[in-house]
Amino acid sequence: MRILVIGGGGREHAIVRKLKESPRTTGLYCAPGNGGIAKDAECVPIPVTDIPGVVRFAKDKRIDLVFVAPDDPLAAGMVDELEKAGIRAFGPNAKAAEIESSKVFSKGLMKKYHIPTADYEVFGDPRKALDYIRKQDTYPAVIKADGLALGKGVILAGNFDEAKAAVKTIMEDKAFGASGNRVVIEQFLTGPEVSVLAFTDGKCVKPMVSSKDHKRALDGDKGLNTGGMGTISPNPYYTPEIAEICRNTIFLPTIRAMRQEGRPFKGCLYFGLMLTPDGPKVIEYNSRFGDPETQVVLPRLKTDFVDILEAVVDERLERQPVEWRGEACACVVMASGGYPKRYKKGVEITGLDADGQIPGATVFHAGTALRGGRYYTNGGRVLGVTALGKDLPEALKKAYAGVDKIHFEDAQYRHDIGK
Ligand code: AMP
Ligand code: GLY
Repeated sequence: MRILVIGGGGREHAIVRKLKESPRTTGLYCAPGNGGIAKDAECVPIPVTDIPGVVRFAKDKRIDLVFVAPDDPLAAGMVDELEKAGIRAFGPNAKAAEIESSKVFSKGLMKKYHIPTADYEVFGDPRKALDYIRKQDTYPAVIKADGLALGKGVILAGNFDEAKAAVKTIMEDKAFGASGNRVVIEQFLTGPEVSVLAFTDGKCVKPMVSSKDHKRALDGDKGLNTGGMGTISPNPYYTPEIAEICRNTIFLPTIRAMRQEGRPFKGCLYFGLMLTPDGPKVIEYNSRFGDPETQVVLPRLKTDFVDILEAVVDERLERQPVEWRGEACACVVMASGGYPKRYKKGVEITGLDADGQIPGATVFHAGTALRGGRYYTNGGRVLGVTALGKDLPEALKKAYAGVDKIHFEDAQYRHDIGK
């Protein structure tokens, strides 16, 4: 199989690595990829939003399967266009991807099919949104832009003034463009968060091992929300009993609901859950693999990844085994100083070998560039230093030992991943 992966972050590096393990992979391309991915796949400079460019390249290179990893091209219909051109693709079509790209759609779906989630209201008028917040008078108020917003479209406002500023940012200043034409205002929930990625072919759902993200920039869950500063798998809060509840009240009902709505979801569906005192509830759906969840989930996959992807695309997942290693996995993200706000690029990274790796851990590259045999920072999240271990403490110890070997100016990482 000749496979093309769309994307260029740590998640895509983990995907490329797993595909490379399969004896069925004979050609591996990544668009656009990054400095580290370049050691594992042929990187091609096509932006992830260039749908005609991807279709053309896939035809030229006789690609057998395109793996569309990021949210933007999924929402824009890259899978639809590839399929029209007769090219097989892993990922949902645009109609199914709306489960992530429109919170108004996903909240409506959950309401209609009685899938547990926070109570909410939708507003298209900023004044009405603020009237509602004033009347509710409960804080934090949770304010979410309807559309995609690079993980920054959720604002937890601690008082009315903060809520007013949030509504202004999203709906009037249009900080996230048309994504802020409508907002969802929802009930504040509490409890540990769990990420569960699941393979689904639209009929059958096979959840992967659980994980836990660390979204805040600083130790002790302080600082701004980021794309994710580190992950562990399994998530210690996600017991077999809770998994069973989630399967029956969330996973199966969601797959059924999407089918019933004429939007069967094929690909990886990401359930962002909160284990509230009233039971597990959905915080969000993503129409794709999570980043950096993928970095700790895929290393634990025992079954041939290509076999599973094909079973999803061909809608025969029911008969496809999916097996996992018992070991735990941890990923510590090293980011550029200042992330998620302003940061410098082009800073040299030292401590990596010629392949961008170190002994004792796997380094998934996120924002790196390779020039003249040297690695440089090229984004906010730079590296995901990842290790398997017999248990979480061992995996974390190995990942942090790896972090200690790598240096770049103003590197920033959390010291309490998995704590
Ligand atoms: P999202 O991008 O939807 O995952 O939201 C980002 C983060 O905001 C989540 O990981 C939660 O920590 C928090 N969050 C979102 N919705 C709620 C809610 N209803 N109650 C409490 N926290 C929330
Ligand atoms: N790590 C959260 C996400 O991928 O959306």
